[in-house]
Amino acid sequence: MNNQSLMERRNAAVPRGVASATPLFVKHAKNAELWDVENTRYIDFAAGIAVVNTGHSNPTITQAVTAQIDKFSHTAFQVAGYENYIELAERLNALAPIDDAKTILMTTGAEAIENAVKIARHYTERRGVIAFHGGFHGRTLLTMGMTGKIAPYKEGFGPFPGDIYHIPFPVPYQGIDTAYSLQQLEKLFKTDISPTSVAAIVIEPIQGEGGFYAAPKELVQQLRTLCDEHGIVLIFDEVQTGFGRTGKTFASEHYDVQPDMITVAKALAGGYPLSGIIGKREIMDSPAPGGLGGTYGGSPVGCAAALAVLEELESKSLNARAQDIGSQLHKAFSEIITLNPNVPIRHIRHKGAMFAFDFLADSQPDPSQVAPFVKACRDDGLIVLPCGQFGNAIRLLPPLTVENHILEEAIDIMRKALLSLQ
Ligand SMILES: Cc1ncc(COP(=O)(O)O)c(C=O)c1O
Repeated sequence: MNNQSLMERRNAAVPRGVASATPLFVKHAKNAELWDVENTRYIDFAAGIAVVNTGHSNPTITQAVTAQIDKFSHTAFQVAGYENYIELAERLNALAPIDDAKTILMTTGAEAIENAVKIARHYTERRGVIAFHGGFHGRTLLTMGMTGKIAPYKEGFGPFPGDIYHIPFPVPYQGIDTAYSLQQLEKLFKTDISPTSVAAIVIEPIQGEGGFYAAPKELVQQLRTLCDEHGIVLIFDEVQTGFGRTGKTFASEHYDVQPDMITVAKALAGGYPLSGIIGKREIMDSPAPGGLGGTYGGSPVGCAAALAVLEELESKSLNARAQDIGSQLHKAFSEIITLNPNVPIRHIRHKGAMFAFDFLADSQPDPSQVAPFVKACRDDGLIVLPCGQFGNAIRLLPPLTVENHILEEAIDIMRKALLSLQ
């Protein structure tokens, strides 16, 4: 068995709509490294797209999952409940920056956002949803509609559900600031939907697929004020930013603002499909029994994994480690640019270990350099992912448990790849 033969079988058996970021097929993985079926070893700075913050095959998580499977793997929480769902909800309610919270568990990120909107609509008895240009919320019809990027996520998949509106997300490098975003929101309230018809504003505190741009504090604080003024539910989509990635358990904690709801998934269960919505009790209790749920939502296996993830976050001080990783990457890339001003990257940015930079040519986004850089890294044994509205950004998502010598090795590979592109 080799990568080539598996790719041929994959292409014959699996639709091309599921993209392949790499031509690799995995044999096994450990912490920040994985080995393909040809036994070639890679450093994995994709981390399953921000999922294995706690590392691949984390022994604490594996042990917790194995113990759970030995007892039972599925009953459907709404048929016969189990303690670890309740315990996880209690833990998330206590950890999230929302006073007096309740949590419902689901399976995927998109499902969490769908349900957050359902709950907000039920509570407010309103229909409108406002999201941001460049935002990504998932691949279901509603979340696709909320996503603020056409290709490849929305092209050919419409029509989308109605009553979804988009406003600009502040990105300093694109000349969009907080004042402009808020102006556009006010304009939207006048031209497209009255604020009294808006159920929710949904924002990623740091856009993930959109390019790792952090929402400015003043924007988030103004949104809070506007939502309070108009009775709108403020939802933070923390599917990509949650659980230590930004140096805090929730990115919301950087903003001194309480959202009404937070959606979580990905790193929550370190590789097992689990998502959740944490929200204010009064809002969360709006839908009647039976209005919310799902066969696999809050799987006991996922809950066991998530409780182990929370243990790992605490016992290994992974929030602090994320900040340390981000600082090391920032220092290394700043040095690369200072010593080699011709390397075609700028706009180094990070919040904790959510790190990105842009490829530019004549100060404009230049996506043409991205594929050669990604390939040069992979040829030297490092997996990295692109992102960004213009496809010209590279995002680094190392597991927060990455060993220092592996981090340094990855930096060396990226330095070499960048110098080869000069
Ligand atoms: C911010 C954000 N929201 C929602 C999603 C969708 O999550 P899922 O792919 O688990 O449905 C993603 C996935 O990348 C995401 O980054």
